[in-house]
Amino acid sequence: MSETTLTLDEMASLTAGASMWSTAAIPHAGIPSLAMADGPMGVAGPRVDERDVSLLTPAPVALGASWDRELVQRVGRLVGGEAIRRKVDLMLAPNLNLARSPLAGRAFEYFSEDPLLCGRLGGAWIQGCQSVGTGAVAKHLVCNDSETARDSMNAVVDERTLREVYLAPFEMAAQAGCAGMLTAYNKVNGAWCAEAGKIVRDVAKGEWIFDGVFMSDWFGTHSTVPSLNGGLDLEMPGPARFLGAKSAGAVVEGQVDLERVRDAAERVARTARRFGRDKGAPLPAAEASGLLVEAAAAGFTLVRNDDAILPLDPARYPRIAVLGPNASAPCFQGGTFAKIAVRPDALLPLDALRARFGDAIVVYEPGVDPQPKLPRMPARPARDVDGCTRGMTLDYFDNPDCAGSPLLSETRDTNSLTWFHGVHAAGALQQAAATRASGVVTATADGPHRFYIGGTGALRLVVDGVEVFRRDDQLAPGDVMGRLKSGDADCVTVDLRAGQVVTVVAELRYSPARCQGLWYGVRGPDSNDAMMARAVAAARAADAVVLVVGETSDASVESKDRVDTRLPAEQVELIERVCAANPDTVVVTNVGHAFDTRWECQAKAVLHCWYPGEEFGRALAQVLAGDREPGGRMPVTIACDDADYPALSLQPDANGDLPYSEGTRVGYRGLAARGIAPRQAFGAGFGYTTFALDGVAVAANGQDGWTVTVDVRNTGTRAGAEVVQVYRAVPELTLVGFEKVQLAAGETRMVRIAIERRRLQTWQDGWMDLPGSVELFVGRSSPDLSLAVQVNTN
Ligand code: BGC
Repeated sequence: MSETTLTLDEMASLTAGASMWSTAAIPHAGIPSLAMADGPMGVAGPRVDERDVSLLTPAPVALGASWDRELVQRVGRLVGGEAIRRKVDLMLAPNLNLARSPLAGRAFEYFSEDPLLCGRLGGAWIQGCQSVGTGAVAKHLVCNDSETARDSMNAVVDERTLREVYLAPFEMAAQAGCAGMLTAYNKVNGAWCAEAGKIVRDVAKGEWIFDGVFMSDWFGTHSTVPSLNGGLDLEMPGPARFLGAKSAGAVVEGQVDLERVRDAAERVARTARRFGRDKGAPLPAAEASGLLVEAAAAGFTLVRNDDAILPLDPARYPRIAVLGPNASAPCFQGGTFAKIAVRPDALLPLDALRARFGDAIVVYEPGVDPQPKLPRMPARPARDVDGCTRGMTLDYFDNPDCAGSPLLSETRDTNSLTWFHGVHAAGALQQAAATRASGVVTATADGPHRFYIGGTGALRLVVDGVEVFRRDDQLAPGDVMGRLKSGDADCVTVDLRAGQVVTVVAELRYSPARCQGLWYGVRGPDSNDAMMARAVAAARAADAVVLVVGETSDASVESKDRVDTRLPAEQVELIERVCAANPDTVVVTNVGHAFDTRWECQAKAVLHCWYPGEEFGRALAQVLAGDREPGGRMPVTIACDDADYPALSLQPDANGDLPYSEGTRVGYRGLAARGIAPRQAFGAGFGYTTFALDGVAVAANGQDGWTVTVDVRNTGTRAGAEVVQVYRAVPELTLVGFEKVQLAAGETRMVRIAIERRRLQTWQDGWMDLPGSVELFVGRSSPDLSLAVQVNTN
């Protein structure tokens, strides 16, 4: 039976989710329910906790740094396969918003600041994911490029900028045939994205002729009639609040055309039939981990390598010190709700370096606290409830005072817990009103221990039978995600002796908010001064240093942007003191966005690893040892000064407006237009070999565009990859094509780069060719464009 025979009520039922993560089914019409999960770095949830282990790929910014469509397609395929393994039909990924400002809380989830790089890699990811029968839902349409007040702010953006920059990646996703798109929480030019008829109905459905499904971001539907008439097809999550049965009511009352609801239902039904069956197979485990190492290394971006210190040769540097917090506490990923539970045995960079370099690694010192915000809680459970021997015992109660017998008990080995009250929680937990975590901690040193506690509701912390902290006030309801994931915690000091065993009890009384969180930890008495002094001494005594610095995942969260672009001050001090103590220092950074690197000239080498996923360790060891190339090129610009970024502040004005005043001149385009040199340019980076570009030519490719050809020669003594980049300079410097090529030592190859006509057009009440003869510049990064060719657009 086809969907055209559905009744109005049946059609309406398809316009809202059935549950938090699923769509409605109509079995007699052959319309299955679709199960969804959050991405893009892997399959998150639906149970959001550390036991729900799944494969973690490099973050999109790291994939963006690879500039490699074929690789990104394979990563998408891996995630699609992982979804199959976890019985998920649709991934809420990729994220096609742009790294407009380095302060954006979710910048690590964006491929790039450039729409072409983002759209092409996003399209490749979509094709890979869908090649095994898992649908990809591109998000968040549109201008959700920041987090501050994301559920109320209004992006004010001119039509040309909207078309050429922010909608462009979604248009490419539509061309790639994505299953659907998620509308953003914010408004654009006054309209909620979930009601923005000009964007969803007129542009995406009308002009792009995109036949996928448009669903609201979670709880981001605001109305029945304006949403349906604007083109929204599906309210998520379910059960319905605005669509569903109300869609039928709106038709009966004549406020919405029957054909509109039929269109919405057909889109949902078509997607369900397309992705609800016929699945491929997940990647075999060994292949998956090999790909994750390859993908991480492909994004590692080497921006400095004086005296060819890398690859690090133990014959030249027999005693290597590994320093820095992120060697032992890496940031594999960001801290959004799409956080993946990484397998507990994922190799730390430090252990991987030790395995690869053996005795050449003579010492490790973190130098600063590896968990500056929220330390771990190294506890054993207060009671044995499930045989687990590490972590805290969690008891859930039906009353706010944790009185009587718990509804349920379990052991959880994490310092940060999240629950979607009444939504994620199953069975007994629906009634939970409070959680108590209890464990036993053994002090490892004499002195003041700092205990941390934070959460979304009223809190109590008891150490060794004494209540040391209490907060009775409740967090106001609303978008609590920033608070939830920021790890902001209160801290109390308790004196302990080495070997002393204490019980720790942390209690959370649930707030009225949609999601609940409780987090805790304990920090021993080791001081930052002592840690820093040990690291500097270790640097001095070694022949070379690998210093791994960076963020913790709570630096990148939802609903919160960053306040500045700097690493924590103590890490900058560590870099400066270590580089002064040992000039042969390689600084490895583990940061998911553009950040202040004004210290970089003090280091002999700088390698940006972004958030590289669960194979960070192995990839780093192989790249530092020279077994693999660092294959990345900058996916974003790092400016010399914050004031140089075309867009920095993400704070909407008093009216809630966030003006995109830089227009089309986002990222490198803005710096180039103002003649400002960046510290690290968009597209820059190199591997361990050298390349020469020569013999550029261009030929028309029918009506659709042009093909630029260029001879690329590997002039070095080892194999490596180059990214050939093509830009136009008018009306502003703009990437119009790119291609990554792998070449053996001494090999020359003619590389072909397709330039679509659209890349040489601008929007002026319609797409207009740039007039006459347009010069294309070809080279190795946005400022290193040594070759030029002319094309005639007429
Ligand atoms: C995020 C989306 C995500 C959704 C479901 C929202 O808060 O903005 O990116 O897909 O939650 O978890």
